Amino acid sequence: MTPQRYTLTAALPYTNGPIHIGHLAGVYVPADIYARYLRLTGQDVAFICGSDEHGVAISIKAKKEGITPQEVVDKYHKMIKDSFAEFGISFDNYSRTSAKIHHDTASEFFKKLYDKGDFIEEVTEQLYDPEADQYLADRFVVGTCPKCGHDEAYGDQCENCGSSLNATDLIDPKSTISGAKPVLKETKHWFLPLDRYEDFLRDWILKSHKKDWKSNVYGQCKSWIDEGLRARAVTRDLDWGIPVPVPGGEGKVLYVWFDAPIGYISSTKEWAEREGKNWEDYWKKDDTKLVHFIGKDNIVFHCIIFPSMLKAEGSYILPENVPANEFLNLEGRKLSTSKNWAVWLHEYLEDFPGQQDVLRYALTANAPETKDNDFTWKDFQARNNNELVAIFGNFINRVVVLTDKYYNGLVPEAGELNEEDQKTLDELRAYPAVIASSLERYRFRESQNELMNVARLGNKYLADAEPWKTVKTDENRTKTVMNLALQIAASLAVLSEPFLPFTSAKLREMLNITAGPNAESTDTVAQLQWDDLSEQKPYVKAGHKIEKGTLLFSKIEDEQIEKQLEKLEKTKMENKEIPSPQPPKGEQNKSEKTPPSGGGGTPQKEIIQYEDFTKLDMRVGTILEAEKMPKADKLLVLKVDTGIDVRTIVSGLAEHYAPEDIVGKKVTVLVNLAPRKLRGTESEGMILMATTAEGKVIFLNPDVENVENGAGIS
Ligand code: 2FM
Ligand code: ZN
Repeated sequence: MTPQRYTLTAALPYTNGPIHIGHLAGVYVPADIYARYLRLTGQDVAFICGSDEHGVAISIKAKKEGITPQEVVDKYHKMIKDSFAEFGISFDNYSRTSAKIHHDTASEFFKKLYDKGDFIEEVTEQLYDPEADQYLADRFVVGTCPKCGHDEAYGDQCENCGSSLNATDLIDPKSTISGAKPVLKETKHWFLPLDRYEDFLRDWILKSHKKDWKSNVYGQCKSWIDEGLRARAVTRDLDWGIPVPVPGGEGKVLYVWFDAPIGYISSTKEWAEREGKNWEDYWKKDDTKLVHFIGKDNIVFHCIIFPSMLKAEGSYILPENVPANEFLNLEGRKLSTSKNWAVWLHEYLEDFPGQQDVLRYALTANAPETKDNDFTWKDFQARNNNELVAIFGNFINRVVVLTDKYYNGLVPEAGELNEEDQKTLDELRAYPAVIASSLERYRFRESQNELMNVARLGNKYLADAEPWKTVKTDENRTKTVMNLALQIAASLAVLSEPFLPFTSAKLREMLNITAGPNAESTDTVAQLQWDDLSEQKPYVKAGHKIEKGTLLFSKIEDEQIEKQLEKLEKTKMENKEIPSPQPPKGEQNKSEKTPPSGGGGTPQKEIIQYEDFTKLDMRVGTILEAEKMPKADKLLVLKVDTGIDVRTIVSGLAEHYAPEDIVGKKVTVLVNLAPRKLRGTESEGMILMATTAEGKVIFLNPDVENVENGAGIS
């Protein structure tokens, strides 16, 4: 059979931070399962990804860290690429959009559309920050979403409702650079008139893909098309990105969402050059299947905008499917990079070394395929202990140990099969088709559950046949049972490969079955492939030698889970429950690990100007009253004499001080911090504190005796 050619793409992650479980669950694990499965069935696969290194997210991060955008992308590109490799995400190529091949490809693409007259060139009024002296594109501006009312929508997109926006649509816009209210200022840009593609999109998506696309994806597309498509600017007034390659484009760059999806094409080119293939086969041949794996916030870009670009260009194929996932939450809250509410992959590996498959498994078992879903550490532990250890690991361990003990590791000959044996074998041979059918419909949870059913079948077979008993009475029967159990184990070694690649590799080694097409080195032809599993012959022959086993999975203890939950509690506190020792919102670099105490290891924050410092109004004050906030373990409500007034300040001190011990204390107060409500009580300022090396929180007392309340601190 001729292999089917596939181009599989996984969303290019922004290189403004490391990646977390949400990224893995939503995009990269399902994409990897699919790619591995296709390779195992002998298909011709290009699995493509790379870093998305342009866009305002990168510039903002660079400003925050006081480094250049190039330094930001270099740092996170490496980190992200390493995490993918560590978790076995088997990209055929992982490129980056700062690469020359990408700049050239994206520029040529733009130029071609420009030359064909596919853009509208127009001078329009755009948001401009008069203080920063800069146009405000995309994430440089936030405001209220006109569609859903979310008050932190970006200039190009609302992450709450997924709407794609123009910055001028935002209600009450605010510059994220200076906080200033933007003004309107004229500038020239190039627009892709999406309305010209409405008929094409209606035909292609609404008519042709009604049945085979996921309903969440189809539904979003339908509502965009029905609402009416508008022209979208595809250039920006920014200094980080791909220069606009046409007259009048000086000082402007391509919109990140124009260049990023073209990154799939340039990454394919890079791969094809290296592998001696023709990249155009993977992007321009009608019989190639193109599938985009993305999260739901990327649907409009992959289903409406990029296809319109491809259609305009004229020589490309369109995606056959875009199986977008919904979002994963963590312990009931939205994952957030800026709030550090995440399980970072590099941190997971520090705490659970060698246990990548456990995370892959738990994330797939709970994948947000049809609705947002929750990752909890308790569920993670249960998936490992009750499923991977108790079902899969237990079965393999019994088979390997008994084979070693009874037959010195040699597969015994099967005798005559009884009805139960035959039923078990028939069932076993049916599983590859069952799992494949779920995978081909992008139902990864379902397919992984079917994989576990193979291990369940094995456990049940052994439990019913009881070879540990028959070994004393019926040598032939025991040999037959163990032979069959070994066939089930061999089947598991192959079928588990897309889901649990590290486990599958170990199991193949234990069973002495050479590695398949997903292995890094494929010098040897695999002895056993997916398609072999449906055939009426043994997977491992009598006399085949297997190795002594090692345990595939180990139990995760309660203490390990508690440690993770404590970490999250700490993050919660840092986020909002402790106003005093925490720097003002937006100033913390949440992707850096906070050292456990003292703070001596915290990197210095970005340099600020003297003018910034003078904005802080810090005064000497006295705590007049203190009481515990009802139903809040950590908070004290203080009345503080600031010399200007007596005001209420809520402070996270209850775990460190009894109220009566701090009344009368002279303290340093930041008095002009915007008031905010904590558990219903308005806090009007912040008491400055420090944390000692032992983790004790202490007051930054001014040298008290001779200083009046209200005295300024400078
Ligand atoms: O949402 C994101 O993280 C984007 N960087 C995804 C880009 S996907 C593709 F088009 F490059
Ligand atoms: Zn919205």
